Amino acid sequence: MKIGVLGSGAMGSGIAQVAATNGHDVVLVDNNEEAIGKASGKLQKILARLVEKGKIDETTSQTIFSKIEFTTDNQQFEGCGLVIEAIVERLDIKKVVFSELEKIVGDDCILATNTSSLSVASIAAACENSERVIGIHFFNPAPLMPLVEIIPAVQTVDETTKSARKLIDSWGKVTVLTKDTPGFIVNRVARPFYGEALKIYEEGVADFATIDWAMSELGGFRMGPFTLMDFIGNDINYSVTESVFAAFYYDPRYRPSLTQKRHSEAGWFGRKSGRGYYSYSENTIKPEPNKDETVGQEIVDRILAMLINEAVDALFLNIATAEDLDLAMTKGVNYPKGLLKWADEIGLDVVLKRLENLQNLYGDDRYRPSSLIKKMVKSGKKFYN
Ligand code: NAI
Repeated sequence: MKIGVLGSGAMGSGIAQVAATNGHDVVLVDNNEEAIGKASGKLQKILARLVEKGKIDETTSQTIFSKIEFTTDNQQFEGCGLVIEAIVERLDIKKVVFSELEKIVGDDCILATNTSSLSVASIAAACENSERVIGIHFFNPAPLMPLVEIIPAVQTVDETTKSARKLIDSWGKVTVLTKDTPGFIVNRVARPFYGEALKIYEEGVADFATIDWAMSELGGFRMGPFTLMDFIGNDINYSVTESVFAAFYYDPRYRPSLTQKRHSEAGWFGRKSGRGYYSYSENTIKPEPNKDETVGQEIVDRILAMLINEAVDALFLNIATAEDLDLAMTKGVNYPKGLLKWADEIGLDVVLKRLENLQNLYGDDRYRPSSLIKKMVKSGKKFYN
């Protein structure tokens, strides 16, 4: 099957590499000549590095590269079985692009968007045949991150969903099925990892280094929240939070942080700007955490309770199955354990108590426990047997 990818930026070029590595002929289109040139050069470098490391041989590298046609002409999408759009995150532009795509490809071509924050339904609505439109959400970098969220819109027919999932599974990816709701799974459930850490800092409970130490050393997360936000970029992470908050009608659970906003406004984006919560200039001495285990454990317990609450509420609202929710967080953001499995281990009654304590203390709806937690504690049920 010929695969089309529109947009040759970070995501589009990665997706094209994945498709070509899996034996597909790929057409990678960008309306910017310079961007398409860059994508081609970058892929050559990546493939050369893979050869150097002995991951692939020279012939395979050449085969992969030769399978991708780099072009600015989207008419080349003709004959594709799937086109994945990965252009700028703007609804108005995506809508125009989708209605144009529909005129180029055949009736049986699936049209997918890699959007991370827009509703798939609103993009699909731009097409006459919106039944074949779906969200296929890769994570960055697409060739390395195993998780892909499959997001049927309300208009999408089952056949489209099944074919899309089967194809992406055949590329060796871990797919999870999720409803077309803000943040899908990962960008919704992970919000407290950042938001609650920022709130803990703002209250003066601990500094960045101590919170990071607690979450990585005591919590088992690969990276602490501030180190991770500096990696992602505070501009990007803040704007995702803001868009999820607005999309949930300003539910206080997703309330953004002024600390992060100010860091972003100051241009303290993180690694890419040389300064974020930490400084990345040469000769900087990394601040030492205060390794007080009592404070550390309090921090982990609080953030983890909030994360579990998000995962349970997503299950309650049928955003995804328990298995897919756990897979999404372990494969998409490298959590040490699925949050529902973790909840079973801690005990839902313990999690409920932590949330109720926070809700009582702050009088803030942000900490309201999901109804499903209450129901399950009452019935003594677990997520897994
Ligand atoms: P990017 O800015 O690196 O690349 C976008 C590319 O699209 C640029 O090369 C631009 O020239 C091209 N483009 C813009 N308008 C176009 C049009 N009308 N026709 C053809 N090409 C056009 O963006 P990135 O980061 O690759 O993101 C692309 C999409 O993937 C966005 O929807 C984003 O939300 C989503 N996404 C991004 C992730 C990330 O971590 N960067 C992760 C998952 C999804």
